[in-house]
Amino acid sequence: MSNFDTSMKEKVKEIEKIIDSFLPQECGYQKVVIQAMNYSVQAGGKRLRPMLMNETYRLFGGRGEEIKPFMAAMEMIHTYSLVHDDLPAMDNDEYRRGRKTTHVVYGEANAILAGDALLNYAFETAIKAFEIAEDFEPEKVNAMKEVSVARSLQVLARKAGIFGMIGGQTADIQAEEKECVSLEELVFIHKHKTAALIEASMMIGAILAGASLNEVRKIERCAYNVGLAFQIQDDILDVTGTQEELGKPIGSDEKNNKQTYVTLKGLEESRKEVERLSQEAVEILQEIPGDSSFLTELIHSLIYRTK
Ligand code: IPE
Ligand code: IPE
Ligand code: MG
Ligand code: MG
Ligand code: MG
Repeated sequence: MSNFDTSMKEKVKEIEKIIDSFLPQECGYQKVVIQAMNYSVQAGGKRLRPMLMNETYRLFGGRGEEIKPFMAAMEMIHTYSLVHDDLPAMDNDEYRRGRKTTHVVYGEANAILAGDALLNYAFETAIKAFEIAEDFEPEKVNAMKEVSVARSLQVLARKAGIFGMIGGQTADIQAEEKECVSLEELVFIHKHKTAALIEASMMIGAILAGASLNEVRKIERCAYNVGLAFQIQDDILDVTGTQEELGKPIGSDEKNNKQTYVTLKGLEESRKEVERLSQEAVEILQEIPGDSSFLTELIHSLIYRTK
């Protein structure tokens, strides 16, 4: 195993510990919805978004604890988007992260509620960063930290909502009814349904570490390229991958009459686009002082990912 693979494995383990520490206890009359939340979050997954967040935080010199609730919150929002994405009314898929999907195990009503609950609990969790920011220097009100936590919440809310992920999912579902979709519309869908949460992840890492406005803008552009490349590769894997490796069914896009990069441009062009966008992301990263070698390798590894 390469050094990169070993450190990826360790980092994923660390991230899962952090996520677990913020998950709610399964008890009370609402127990079933909490079980459904934890079932989907603990199923695994690449943990890419919290990883990008933490690595960007480190790149800008962040060393505190307030990043942790945001890492967990981001994975909760991402997981909720998957639980809802798999519902019969949306992509109607029965496998996710190598397990039966949440609605198959807990029923549709509980899957809808578990998605809602994860979204809400994500904000309950991220808000805990205020307490950590206050603890940081108990004698002084750490105003700088509090402002960066508030700005991060703002980014999280916007990028998850109608101007971000939900907006993209809406356009994605609407496009199923269309005979053809323009490249412009497809880029809108990919930018919003997928890049938005990746942008939020990296931006929050930068903001919490005290990056300047200009640097946060650069990171947003870098993350946009990573996000678009990531979704194009997801479209490619829906055709060329295996359920075994992906942990989710292949052919979901064709089944749902989705227009994707692959249907619009073909496999070869799509692969080239993944490479081009990833290269662009790496170039933006290089404009930022600091050691970005792990992030660079991570972005490169996504080009050839098979899951
Ligand atoms: C799947 O995201 C949905 C997309 C945005 C393509 P991931 O491929 O990151 O899924 P997990 O978290 O690893 O399961
Ligand atoms: C989903 O895109 C993006 C989300 C916001 C969930 P897909 O529908 O292509 O994701 P998969 O392939 O089911 O993971
Ligand atoms: Mg979908
Ligand atoms: Mg889907
Ligand atoms: Mg897909």
